[in-house]
Amino acid sequence: MTPEAIQRLKASYASVTATPRQLAARFYQELFSVAPRLRPLFPGDLTNLQGHFEAALALVVRNLDEVEVLRPALRDLGAQHVHWGARTEDYETARAALVAAIGALSANWDERLEADWRGAITAIIVPMLEGAAVHTALAAERLSQAESG
Ligand code: HEM
Repeated sequence: MTPEAIQRLKASYASVTATPRQLAARFYQELFSVAPRLRPLFPGDLTNLQGHFEAALALVVRNLDEVEVLRPALRDLGAQHVHWGARTEDYETARAALVAAIGALSANWDERLEADWRGAITAIIVPMLEGAAVHTALAAERLSQAESG
């Protein structure tokens, strides 16, 4: 990610989150309108989750220039998501919903900013999916050892 892209993303994030919870609310609205089958996986009341989600995204945006630092935390988050029922393809749906939510709330939305955001979100979901895969591989390993031991 270039320093210019990082600057654009930080400015864009600051403007869409100037009103607290607006982005998270819009994200869940977009997500559940394209993928209603995901709704039952989430708690009925999303208030707490919106806070978590914004905090997680804020952390990522603050650390865009050193995304490697967040890799272990994002892997853990991905491993937790296995238990919540998130599948690989759901991450693409979530990425599209998040890009759509940011686009809908942005005054200066254009193709370049859209590509910047897709890239940034991909940089978040790749380690999350890696964490999910490692988690599943370790569970398989434990099963196999339990049988042979
Ligand atoms: C951009 C990718 C994503 C990010 C950054 C993200 C972030 C988060 C965070 C920060 C939490 C709260 C964790 C906590 O309470 O400790 C959470 C919870 C959750 N996420 Fe995600 N998530 C992502 C993608 C997904 C996808 C694709 C699904 C698909 C089903 C999903 C389903 C859930 C569910 C069901 C919960 C909470 C369940 C509960 O509290 O009962 N997430 N997510």
